[in-house]
Amino acid sequence: MSAAAYRGALAAVERIVNGESQGDEVLRKAVDVLHDRFEHYSWVGIYLVDGRDLVLGPWKGPQATEHVRIPIGQGICGAAAASGRTEIVDDVNADDRYLACFTSTRSEIVVPIVFQGRVVGEIDIDSDSPAAFTDADRAFLERVALLLSRHCVARETVRTGSRG
Ligand code: SME
Repeated sequence: MSAAAYRGALAAVERIVNGESQGDEVLRKAVDVLHDRFEHYSWVGIYLVDGRDLVLGPWKGPQATEHVRIPIGQGICGAAAASGRTEIVDDVNADDRYLACFTSTRSEIVVPIVFQGRVVGEIDIDSDSPAAFTDADRAFLERVALLLSRHCVARETVRTGSRG
């Protein structure tokens, strides 16, 4: 992908976070931008932290995943949430931690979304191409995660509040 493609997508996410939308709507629109602009992003989802688990929020791709709740510490998603660091797996079938969702997936990137030092969610992208994710994807998605962070917090706050 060209540098211009990443710049254009980042600008699109900036427009979304600075627009009228709030919370989930922002996350949904951002997922659409990521999925629709990058051919190597085959399946894009955002997981949100809920206690000791990750719960699947907005996603876009050819199929739903059975992994809608993942304990932190399990899978590549759980590893990234536990460490707070981006995980790039070039060959998912060679990684013992991998929780399989789609038979077509060959590589995966998981980018934690951090707000005020706490992991509040993550961006999870599966690719049907091996070793699809580069440092350009990492840098781009870490900036997207930063832009989305306050919208993940908003969702968590609403949930906590609704429990009374
Ligand atoms: N593969 C992930 C699980 C989520 S699916 O890719 C949507 C993992 O190993 O944590």
